[in-house]
Amino acid sequence: MTVTEPARAVGNKGIPREGVGGFSQCWYPVALSSEVAPGQLAGKEFLDGRVVVYRGEDGVARVQSAYCRHLGSDLSVGDVQGNDLRCAFHHWQYGPDGRCTKIPAGVARIPSAARLLAYPTAESMGLIWAFNGQQPLYDPPQFPTYRDQPLEYRVYETRRWAVDPYVLLTNSMDFQHLRELHGMTMEFDPADIVMEGFEYEYVVEGELPNFGRMSQFIHCFGNNAITLTMTMEGGGQVLGAFGGTPVPGGCRGFNVAAAVPSDGTADDDERLDQVLFLSQAMMKQLQDEDQPVMDTIRFREDVLIEADRALGKFLRYVRDYPRAHDGAGLIN
Ligand code: FES
Ligand SMILES: [Fe+2]
Repeated sequence: MTVTEPARAVGNKGIPREGVGGFSQCWYPVALSSEVAPGQLAGKEFLDGRVVVYRGEDGVARVQSAYCRHLGSDLSVGDVQGNDLRCAFHHWQYGPDGRCTKIPAGVARIPSAARLLAYPTAESMGLIWAFNGQQPLYDPPQFPTYRDQPLEYRVYETRRWAVDPYVLLTNSMDFQHLRELHGMTMEFDPADIVMEGFEYEYVVEGELPNFGRMSQFIHCFGNNAITLTMTMEGGGQVLGAFGGTPVPGGCRGFNVAAAVPSDGTADDDERLDQVLFLSQAMMKQLQDEDQPVMDTIRFREDVLIEADRALGKFLRYVRDYPRAHDGAGLIN
């Protein structure tokens, strides 16, 4: 009998697949902000299990493990009461910190184990993000040159990807593929990559087919999210971002197009539409070109050459990246 290894059990000679030894401690996009109005909830696939994203009457979005600590009912079929999540089955209620706040049948003392996992949660770039770990290691992703400034966003969930998010992030550091697969011409010195803590950034000057010359300021967060601030030859700025979340078999992906809001004049409305369109079109062109490779790759660092210097730097960063899985046994 032939025994074959499970498909992609190990994604890399040096880097185990997400889920082995935990999941990278990153901010992960879980849902669009627009999906969850106050008083609403949604169940979402996350890591090797499921979470509930909900928004209480205080307007704050929260992400908690999906399975009730009583008998395991999926809380996404429950409802929101004030700022609590309520199970549909026997109406146990859980507060923002995940602790059970109410058991209608009545008990002398609410069991301390009746507690969901409440992930650190943030909203940024039109997305709701959960941090996989007890304390966030860095701030939630946003466009670094527009920190805390209001931007107009167009956000959507992409197709599923068959690889871990970091494999999609290798794209930005894989300069051979930018030249050969995407036809980009560029000037770049890998020594210019600035890595600090769990973020890194660099600038690439280059030309992309259909979009012309541009200067790309790239900032990455954790090993799963990237923001691109592109200054086009005419001076206009195009903002695009991507974030990925591990799920069984690969990852969910989210694309963000962003722009400075219109000042309300017809000219500025036109500028806004145009830059949002350009951002989405560029992301689509790059992702459509990557897709056949990413759907079939058995990613590994096999033979790297001098031209892979930046990629090698990124892969070492991913290999050393801390993992955790506090949701084990709670989200699945
Ligand atoms: S299963 Fe949720 S309250 Fe019983
Ligand atoms: Fe690519």
